[in-house]
Amino acid sequence: MSAMNWIYVLDDAALLEGHMTPTYPLGVNVVLARVGGVVYAVSGKCVHMACPLFTGKLNGYTITCPCHDWRFDVRTGKFLDAPELSLAVYPTKSEAGKVFVNLN
Ligand code: FES
Repeated sequence: MSAMNWIYVLDDAALLEGHMTPTYPLGVNVVLARVGGVVYAVSGKCVHMACPLFTGKLNGYTITCPCHDWRFDVRTGKFLDAPELSLAVYPTKSEAGKVFVNLN
């Protein structure tokens, strides 16, 4: 994983515990969620019918899609009812008060 691939997405202070926010690094739809102080990044489009996950609910590590209530683990991207389906997951890091994601 090259250092060149880290893309700034938002200031660390902008994402509060237990919240999600949409971001679009290089035009890719990515939702960020902070749980237990850690920032997780997954694809922002539900694997069912592409509804925007950031408008859903975050409970602990579980994102619930707003459209048909499919639930995903924000750490792994896995659909809880059928783990063979999953959202893309992206590594994140926080440095100097800024959050970066790696799309590769
Ligand atoms: S689009 Fe997400 S559950 Fe249907």
